[in-house]
Amino acid sequence: MDGRQIEIRPVDLLDPAQQNDAARWIELHANVQRELFGDGGSAWTLEEIQTFHRSPDAERIARAAWADGRMVGAAEIGMPLTDNLALATLWLSVDPAHRRRGCGSVLLADAEQIGADHRRTTFVAEADGAMGAPDLADGFATRHGYVIAQTMLRSALNLTAGRDRRSGILDRADDADGCDDYRIESVLDRLPDEWLADRAVLQQRMSTDAPADDLALEEEAWDAERLRATDDRTRRSGRRIVESVARHAPTGRLVAFTRVSVSGAEPTLAYQQDTLVLREHRGHALGLRVKAANARLLQEALPQVTAVRTWNSDSNGPMLAVNRRLGYVADGYRHDWQKVVS
Ligand SMILES: CC(C)(COP(=O)(O)OP(=O)(O)OC[C@H]1O[C@@H](n2cnc3c(N)ncnc32)[C@H](O)[C@@H]1OP(=O)(O)O)[C@@H](O)C(=O)NCCC(=O)NCCS
Repeated sequence: MDGRQIEIRPVDLLDPAQQNDAARWIELHANVQRELFGDGGSAWTLEEIQTFHRSPDAERIARAAWADGRMVGAAEIGMPLTDNLALATLWLSVDPAHRRRGCGSVLLADAEQIGADHRRTTFVAEADGAMGAPDLADGFATRHGYVIAQTMLRSALNLTAGRDRRSGILDRADDADGCDDYRIESVLDRLPDEWLADRAVLQQRMSTDAPADDLALEEEAWDAERLRATDDRTRRSGRRIVESVARHAPTGRLVAFTRVSVSGAEPTLAYQQDTLVLREHRGHALGLRVKAANARLLQEALPQVTAVRTWNSDSNGPMLAVNRRLGYVADGYRHDWQKVVS
């Protein structure tokens, strides 16, 4: 097999007639996680990916590389439609038995062409690795003109330990309540209507305030309706949501939040999603407190969950410090490879 014998075809992940191809496409991506982390990888389910493909927020196109009648490579091009209109995210996985034969290059050229056809000029692809292990994408991405724009650390919190430490954080905050202007509130699965307007502001701030390092990203556009619709899709894909916020009592406004979600296919593991404290309310340990409160509700509501996994920019000192205090331990990394074309 070489680049000339590889055929690229679309895969419609939403078409019931293509479910065998969809399953193989997901398997190719999941196999890379197994290769990198053994049982400790992170794989999306078909239901979750279908949810992304139904979302009006981005156009997602799945492509597959075929050789000798078998699907040997999988790619996805994601193109936001609400904001970041120059961005295309790429997801590329080639079967280990078929690497170094041009398959990745053909898939990448096809994906970049699709991006160009949609006027996308910034291409970003993620590559994971276990701590201390080499990045499998390094030679390939460099060869194709990509550079590392951000390095994320992957960390895990063992929930079966450290309960006292997390309670201590919340108790100390309660003791200080008389002189403290903040109240922590937590919910399972559905944000109250009354939260939505403030939460949309916090969500939008996430895209400007979390370090993007050298990634060429723009501010996202969020409102209550988009937030509700996104959460509804997440729930329909089988994910549970646990979220905590800090309310500034004098104004009644929400000024900080954190969220984890739990996949139906992996009920013992929670994925940390966004955490943010509004700039003007930093310095009151709110990041620590919303995360400790969220871990408490997570353990009460979904007791089968034993660990939380998170990714943070290696330049994000404040978030990494909060995570260390909660007991997170780094076990891997992710490189965001970027190419900007003029
Ligand atoms: C990265 C990946 C998609 C490459 O797929 P591939 O089919 O092996 O890539 P190609 O055969 O088209 O490689 C093209 C060139 O990239 C470079 N390259 C690819 N793999 C390399 C490696 N392991 N070490 C060094 N250079 C490499 C070489 O220059 C190669 O050309 P050559 O074989 O003539 O020397 C594949 O290794 C993979 O699935 N990795 C795991 C998931 C991942 O990292 N995805 C990419 C995120 S950017």
